[in-house]
Amino acid sequence: MLSKNVVITDEAAGKHVELPVIRGTEGEPTLDIKAVPSTLGYFTYDPGYAATASCTSEITFIDGNKGILRYRGYPIEQLAERSTFVEVAYLLLFGELPIEEQLNQFRDELTYHTMIHERLNHFISGFHYDAHPMAMMAGVVGSLAAFYHNRLDMENPEERVLSAKRMIAKMPTIAAACYRHHMGWPIAYPRNRLRFCERFLDMMFSVPSEQYMVSEVAARALDLLFILHADHEQNASTSTVRLVGSTGANPYACVAAGISALWGPAHGGANEAVLAMLDEIGSVGNVPHFIDRAKDKNDPFRLMGFGHRVYKNYDPRAAIIRQACYEVLDELGKDDPMMDLAMELERIALEDDFFVEKKLYPNVDFYSGIIYKALGIPVSMFTVMFAIARTVGWVSQWIEQSETPTKIGRPRQVYRGPQERKYKALHRRG
Ligand code: SDX
Repeated sequence: MLSKNVVITDEAAGKHVELPVIRGTEGEPTLDIKAVPSTLGYFTYDPGYAATASCTSEITFIDGNKGILRYRGYPIEQLAERSTFVEVAYLLLFGELPIEEQLNQFRDELTYHTMIHERLNHFISGFHYDAHPMAMMAGVVGSLAAFYHNRLDMENPEERVLSAKRMIAKMPTIAAACYRHHMGWPIAYPRNRLRFCERFLDMMFSVPSEQYMVSEVAARALDLLFILHADHEQNASTSTVRLVGSTGANPYACVAAGISALWGPAHGGANEAVLAMLDEIGSVGNVPHFIDRAKDKNDPFRLMGFGHRVYKNYDPRAAIIRQACYEVLDELGKDDPMMDLAMELERIALEDDFFVEKKLYPNVDFYSGIIYKALGIPVSMFTVMFAIARTVGWVSQWIEQSETPTKIGRPRQVYRGPQERKYKALHRRG
């Protein structure tokens, strides 16, 4: 029996309210609580928004109990196996898989927006050589507004899509420029004859002194990782982009805010933190000790790359990346003891009641670093990789929100500070 509404009664006050039940095409039924404050005089309290839907969306669906992830209805497993990152970007942005002509045109449009203003390269050269690349990305992407802001009519749908394409296209260029600044190498300009991931690897690793041959294996592995990281419904960074977008801020400022939110180790920064954790564990023999630390409430140590707000089952992305680790390491002829360590850590954790009861499984960040490392990408750039891919989700969700009338996001609070009191002159204090 599907309820059309749910009645909440405040018996002491003799009041009740009927709350409409909102149903999507998939997922849990949701109570529309808008009427609660005006009818019952209560606000609702949900720190971390664990039980709160912030919007409706048609882009990505997750079923955390079943470990399901779909982009515009297409299962992530099918997209990972048969699609490309550029095609997935088109799908997330426009809602349908492109026909060949649309795909080729979209790919060309991204190709012809890859360059950044030369002054941005000077901006990047102003950072200290050891600045964290995520700090550089947040600053540089936010500054894109300085180059396009006065030409951006956000009421114009075509302008919104153009700024989305610009950011998807320019993120790899900016990321590679930040890396090369750290390495002390000259900027490598985008080569348009290369495809998205090949072009990025060329911008990252080519040097003027010799011909750089892009590894097909590396490009394919990166394409897979970018597909898997492209969107994930209302995660912290995407919710940040939507919240900033709800104020009417320009898309570059929205994505810069998303980059900052993604950086945190509880979110996209976890892929970097996983490698640091595996480094700290060092060997399989030390795993039980760190498992005990992760279970100790008094120890702040957590198993990075484990657990998820939504997935209470194996993150489908982690399963795909785990398999890809083997294939990439094998095809590159590399062996990484960290893979064995990660596998043993996963095995022991998933046999431990603490992790089973709390439904803590490996998430997208647990294995991704193994592949990035095999591709020669430094640990400090791991979250930048995540940001390059997630830019597609951020701009897709920003456009979706921009297309519908949106109230400014403005949560309330439970105030626990001092009640009213009188000002005291300086000489009467203390
Ligand atoms: C991403 O939202 C998204 O979709 C994010 C993402 C995306 O694609 O955008 O999927 C990408 O951010 C993946 C998550 C990457 N973060 C990490 O791997 C960091 C380690 N994981 C945790 O910090 C944690 O699991 C979170 C932040 C991911 C989720 O936190 P929740 O949902 O708020 O859960 P919680 O912190 O309340 O944990 C529930 C319980 C707690 O114990 P109790 O208070 O109930 O006793 O599980 C414990 C936690 O202490 N717990 C862990 C743990 N994660 C949760 N204990 C040990 N190790 C862990 N990793």
